[in-house]
Amino acid sequence: MTRHISDTASDTASDTAPDTAPDASTDTATDAAPILAGLLTDEGAADPHPLFERARTLGPVVPAGDGLLLVTGYQEAERLTRDRAFGILSGAAREPADPGSAPAAHLSRRIVAASLLETDPPHHTRLRSLVSSFFAGRRIRSFEALIAAEVDDLLDGMPDHANPSGTVDFMEAFASRLPMRVICELLGVPRADRLRFRAAASALTLTLELAPPPDAVAAADQAVAELVEYFAGLAARRRADPRDDLASALASAAHGPEPRLSGHEMLSMFVLLLVAGFDTTVNLLGNATALALRHPLAADELRTGRTPATGFTDEVLRLESPVQYAARVPLRTGLTVGGVPAPLGTIALVFLGAANRDPRQYDRPAEFDPLRTGPQPLAFGGGAHFCLGAPLARLEGNIALPALLRRFPRLRPAGEPVRRRGLMMRGYERLPVTLG
Ligand code: HEM
Repeated sequence: MTRHISDTASDTASDTAPDTAPDASTDTATDAAPILAGLLTDEGAADPHPLFERARTLGPVVPAGDGLLLVTGYQEAERLTRDRAFGILSGAAREPADPGSAPAAHLSRRIVAASLLETDPPHHTRLRSLVSSFFAGRRIRSFEALIAAEVDDLLDGMPDHANPSGTVDFMEAFASRLPMRVICELLGVPRADRLRFRAAASALTLTLELAPPPDAVAAADQAVAELVEYFAGLAARRRADPRDDLASALASAAHGPEPRLSGHEMLSMFVLLLVAGFDTTVNLLGNATALALRHPLAADELRTGRTPATGFTDEVLRLESPVQYAARVPLRTGLTVGGVPAPLGTIALVFLGAANRDPRQYDRPAEFDPLRTGPQPLAFGGGAHFCLGAPLARLEGNIALPALLRRFPRLRPAGEPVRRRGLMMRGYERLPVTLG
């Protein structure tokens, strides 16, 4: 599959002739293709919800030309992510529009393609079973004290990040630091090595967007080369001197007497866990803080314990989902999504952020209400690929937010936040605050 979603979305539905997919378009396609094109602009990505609502008026699942489907309904999204007749979208469809560059030519592509994120069973099942125990509830709860200590340490340091007028960028001073510390601890990365990964992880995340900037893949290749070199060295050290950490488990699974994953798959797993555990959670923390700043009463209720942190975190995940979409492809003929035909070659874009505001599931879906009841948000996907790190991400949010508000009860916005670019990851580049 070599279609470029950024190209097809801006084509008119009628003049594209997909080579592999029979045309899934109907009369609505000419309406939904511009909606997708709008979502892929900077303005659309910055404020996708009006476009999601326009798509919703056409139906919970709408064709958008050239075999693309936009899924905005909660039930349809949930069913699709659980449906084993659909598989994961491989990175090939995200290729930059450069005919000479095959996916295999890019280290960053090869690393993601071998990972949990882009494999289907049976490979996916084997890979996931190797690491799932490290993310199980009990093991993650044992991180509670460590996360609380890291949160305290970062809060202690926040005033040092203030510029001369007293403004602190929350993203730089806190949100981008906590998740890297936590995921590195889980992986078994020594403390001294942790600072170097933030830029590399973000470079790779950018290539997971539907329409990455032209130079993103080259930057990701370089970043991944550094990560691979580092993790190959770490694995070698753990093989020589094993510990009770994920790095040792991965090293022994790849290089033990009966290898259960290849050396490339091991490196892919290291890189994926680092990257998946980083920007996602950075944006959860940033989005949560931005919502707290916009809703001082709700923030106060959280600070004083009248609103449980779990409800607050879940409502942030629902209203401002850090990961806005996942993608699925049919694995056999004759399938439909929400009643809409999905012939082979179709790409269904599952807009989690839209599903999480489906009015059929949530009253007043655009309102922030940490005490609301209703189904769990679909922020972590569903089915076989349900986010492995969901309990960890929730725990970080549940600990960090109340601690931040208790430490700085007069936390206030200090100017306009700057949104990060891209549609998949929803969050902020900068979130200026004063600590009070
Ligand atoms: C708020 C933070 C997070 C959000 C919103 C999030 C969201 C998601 C979503 C939507 C998926 C499913 C993708 C798909 O179905 O195609 C996913 C998968 C995954 N996430 Fe997260 N994630 C978060 C934090 C984490 C953390 C902390 C880790 C820790 C390492 C992590 C590791 C993973 C992994 C390994 C997968 C792939 C699972 C698989 O394919 O079997 N995530 N995440």
